[in-house]
Amino acid sequence: MDTSQDRYELGSAPPELERLTRQGRVLEPATRTLLRAAGVGAGMRVLDLGSGAGDVSFLAAELVGPTGEVIGLDQSPDAVELATTRARHNRIDNVRFVVGDIHEPAPGGPFDAIIGRVVLLYSKDPAAVLRTQARQLRPGGVVAPIETDLTTAGARPATPLASRLVSWAGAGFAAANANPTLGRELWEVLREAGLRPLGMLGVQPHFGPGDPNGPALYAGMIRTMVPLLERTGAATAQEIDPDTLEERLAQELIDADAALAYAQLLCAWGTKD
Ligand SMILES: C[S@@+](CC[C@H](N)C(=O)[O-])C[C@H]1O[C@@H](n2cnc3c(N)ncnc32)[C@H](O)[C@@H]1O
Repeated sequence: MDTSQDRYELGSAPPELERLTRQGRVLEPATRTLLRAAGVGAGMRVLDLGSGAGDVSFLAAELVGPTGEVIGLDQSPDAVELATTRARHNRIDNVRFVVGDIHEPAPGGPFDAIIGRVVLLYSKDPAAVLRTQARQLRPGGVVAPIETDLTTAGARPATPLASRLVSWAGAGFAAANANPTLGRELWEVLREAGLRPLGMLGVQPHFGPGDPNGPALYAGMIRTMVPLLERTGAATAQEIDPDTLEERLAQELIDADAALAYAQLLCAWGTKD
């Protein structure tokens, strides 16, 4: 399916894949907590929807161990190539990556777990994606998507530039036809997909002042969105000043002695009856 609403608008050029790699590293502890809570563990066959640079697949590969297997699915050939290269480089041999659209049944089933992090928000019908993929779920297997709630993001205490970035991010996601608050709707999405929700958990990474990861993640995301923000008139490149954004945000947080909260990551997991 390639309607304008289903197109992934943030691209797959090298800087975007680099951003995803950093995001993967920084979000690993939260993601590990969520996947473990959902029951991803030894010996499982896992499907990772929208695998990007491969970080969630690599984490799942570690959780399932040598007797398990992970298949990462992404529509971007560049992302699949990068993830495959990284797997080879890091000698992770229980994972493979394939090009494909999450709206179509993935190859390589059946699966014990179907996961995916920040990908369903780009689909106009996340429940349909899960319903389609869940046809390949083994009895007792789980579907466990992870999505964000952008309304929880910001500096603590609030600072002006951080607040502007969160509002630009909201505008950017809207321009990309993406739903950055899908995380808090996941229980209902599982039900709509014909699954029985079993549990749901939210985890929110915070970065202290002086931690470069927070400003890098935020500024990296906004840099990706500049063309979208300009196209929709939400902000100009001049206002955003993408080249100095990260440094200005880092300095603002140090001056205010503020922590930067990433959007809460939520995972709901469910099964077929
Ligand atoms: C924000 S990235 C997240 C990547 C990875 N899950 C992570 O958390 O690091 C979203 C990924 O989903 C992929 N994607 C978006 N829509 C897709 C679709 N319809 N089918 C397959 N992949 C899709 C994009 O190519 C991109 O790699």
